[in-house]
Amino acid sequence: MRGSGSLLVDNIGELVTNASGDGTGGPLGIHRDAALLVEDGQVAWVGPARGAPAADRRIDAGGAAVIPGFVDSHAHLVFAGDRAAEFAARMAGQPYTGGGIRTTVGATRAAPDSELRATVRRLRDEALRQGTTTIEIKSGYGLTVADEARSLRIAAEFSEDTTFLGAHVVPAEYADRPDDYVGMVCGPMLAAAAPYARWIDVFCERGAFDVDHARAILACGQAAGLGVRVHANQLGPGPGVQLGVELGAASVDHCTHLSDADVDALAATGTGDGAASTVATLLPGAEFSTRSPYPDARRLLDAGVTVALATDCNPGSSYTSSMPFCIALAVREMRMTPAEAVWAATAGGARALRRDDVGVLRPGARADLIVLDAPTHLHLAYRPGVPLIRQVLHNGVPQ
Ligand code: NIG
Ligand code: FE
Repeated sequence: MRGSGSLLVDNIGELVTNASGDGTGGPLGIHRDAALLVEDGQVAWVGPARGAPAADRRIDAGGAAVIPGFVDSHAHLVFAGDRAAEFAARMAGQPYTGGGIRTTVGATRAAPDSELRATVRRLRDEALRQGTTTIEIKSGYGLTVADEARSLRIAAEFSEDTTFLGAHVVPAEYADRPDDYVGMVCGPMLAAAAPYARWIDVFCERGAFDVDHARAILACGQAAGLGVRVHANQLGPGPGVQLGVELGAASVDHCTHLSDADVDALAATGTGDGAASTVATLLPGAEFSTRSPYPDARRLLDAGVTVALATDCNPGSSYTSSMPFCIALAVREMRMTPAEAVWAATAGGARALRRDDVGVLRPGARADLIVLDAPTHLHLAYRPGVPLIRQVLHNGVPQ
């Protein structure tokens, strides 16, 4: 008998660990007929179901598949209002330009803290029910010193991975003096935001921030101790990906329009756990919801780039919190195999957040896992739109 409070997840038909180098097949590190022991919120043991240690409590997976909890490394959850009418207009033929961000900024500024907090909680819980046990949360709909600071303060109540996105767009009151806005972002806004943020991000795109402004803002954030991530190459080709590589970003996100030089630059950062590698985080919910061409994950994978999948959950371009939906899109539309997509939604997300305690099920990792209502991870893409999340454990606690 192990220590008190131990929990054995037993009778697992297919256990996806993402732990390589343990003699099991493939990058998913699959064990068949397995069991997993949880102690003190961490994975304590993984092995064959025969020979599993006794524990205080037991969950019988009934031969189903168990995978790591999803790591959603890109989400904008601090906002007010929605933009359903803008979505309907797009589906009737209007293009997406990012111009609607200012609509959400107006609603967010007008909302009390309690409303913003309730929205973050609702979306975090919605994501958890769909298997997401780690979620990054960005600011970016406040765009004043006070509203960015409170957005991050609220985000930090729900996530360790909070991201300062004061450079989402230039707000209307600075429209004719973007240099002044950049100075404000690098000065008082960063000072107010940094205590609540782990990361800094910039929307580097035509109509948002050009490469010089983006570089200046990201460099200020780095100097304040924040890690770098970039919204890059979403609406068209541009310098964002290569800027991210230049600054050692943990991740460049969207990557919808890439040149060969962009792909080469990402590949040259390597694929290992090394601190220098830059992950390409693909956000197929945004292409779905803006009716845009999907990024080509196959091209990145074949070049040796590390790929993550995330939801980009936000009220404009991608109002989904569903990682299973993103996996299904990535397999059907982006030339990923089901195994690659499941890895990208778990271990890939962890790499994009430079974390080694999540996205993997090995002794010492956080006991964040999903019991699927399916015999294999393949069903996440094979049975799109079906609720396959039977049970979620977060920090070893059944949700
Ligand atoms: O990641 N691209 C910039 N930001 C968000 C969209 C935000 C919005 O439309 O409100 C994105 O897609
Ligand atoms: Fe985004």
